[in-house]
Amino acid sequence: MENFTYCTPTKLIFGDGAIKNLPEVLAPFGKKVLLTYGGGSIKKIGLYDTVKELLKDFEVYELSGIEPNPKYTTSVLGGVKICKEQKIDVVLAVGGGSVLDCSKAICAGALYDGEPWDLITYKVKAKKALPLVDVLTLAATGSEYDSGCVISRTETNDKVGYLDELLFPVASFLDPKYTYSVSRKQTAAGAADAINHIMEQYFCAKHSTLADGMCEAAIRSLIANAKIALEEPENYDARGEFMVDCSLACNTILSIGNSYSGWPCHGMEHALSAYYDITHGEGLAILTPRWMKYILNDSTMERFVSFGKGVFGMDPALSDREIAEKTIDAVYSLFESFGMPMHLKDVGIDETRLQEMAHHIAENEGLDKAWAPLKENDILEILKASL
Ligand code: NZQ
Ligand code: ZN
Repeated sequence: MENFTYCTPTKLIFGDGAIKNLPEVLAPFGKKVLLTYGGGSIKKIGLYDTVKELLKDFEVYELSGIEPNPKYTTSVLGGVKICKEQKIDVVLAVGGGSVLDCSKAICAGALYDGEPWDLITYKVKAKKALPLVDVLTLAATGSEYDSGCVISRTETNDKVGYLDELLFPVASFLDPKYTYSVSRKQTAAGAADAINHIMEQYFCAKHSTLADGMCEAAIRSLIANAKIALEEPENYDARGEFMVDCSLACNTILSIGNSYSGWPCHGMEHALSAYYDITHGEGLAILTPRWMKYILNDSTMERFVSFGKGVFGMDPALSDREIAEKTIDAVYSLFESFGMPMHLKDVGIDETRLQEMAHHIAENEGLDKAWAPLKENDILEILKASL
């Protein structure tokens, strides 16, 4: 096991009607709340009205229109401006991972005098951040239970992951009913994202029986519950289990004591969504089986075999090579069975900018130090195989 320090200070408040406790969770921070949300889904499901009613004794300011793959110049800076001008006490994010991520960057930027991009790119370490409370409406990223956010800057084709303990939400409200309206496309993308989060922690050098068991169980649960949710979007238990799986998937608890893998699929996907603004989980569904195929060799084989047996119940009588190859096929077929696009061309990406993206990834994502190291040419081969 590797040395670790584990601490998640976020309170998860789960269940039907849990949101009634929102005022008492916000109250200790003050009266001035910045309510942040996306393009309107929370209005369609009536959640906006519920939140406004619960906040009737607070002074509420709003930042709406936060984009999927949230943008620095519009949304992050827009939110920071409101926080500074209005002396906001607490940010309340209501939405999916993009709204939560953007709000985390706002919380840090609001209490920093310089350019918030310097925090996001680790040029400067934040000393403090506003408290963040969220109501999650899309299970996928785990942003509600981790200290990270991912911010895009269109002008430079950057999509940057920013982690800081200050960014853990104080409390996250998880009511499965708010995810009933999530489309098939986004439900499938959420499943692919969370499954890949766990794979990024599982395919590494040092691992334990405990971590392997937790990771495999969480992926089996994600698969089983995603299948139900895709067919029965209003199945409370499936949406609920799926939601908790997603929260745990990106929090590091499942891989406690594991060595760091380098998160290669995320490193590559962030460039795809930076250059083409595609849905993160769809990019991952396309890349994951191609990455697996590319890195499979005698020294990586053990992880494939363990994963195949633990997640897909592969027959131990088969040879290791057969199990590994069938495991890659199983991952591909799983995402395909969710109805996901399985080629870059399906999401509007052709060969034109593959070289440029491979270069960008190699320069910025540190994948040459990943568990299975990837140099620029390796990345390009994986992108080409994904076309
Ligand atoms: O904008 P609105 O109108 O709210 O619509 C959203 C959006 O169009 C919609 N949606 C959300 N809740 C809904 C709903 N539609 C119907 N009913 C609901 N209840 O879904 C669309 C996608 O929303 P988004 O928030 O972008 O999706 P997701 O939660 O998958 O977040 C993706 C972002 O998170 C980042 C990704 O890179 C991407 O930018 N990630 C964040 C991570 C983290 N913080 O730890 C880790 C991940 O690996 C990931 O990189
Ligand atoms: Zn992800």
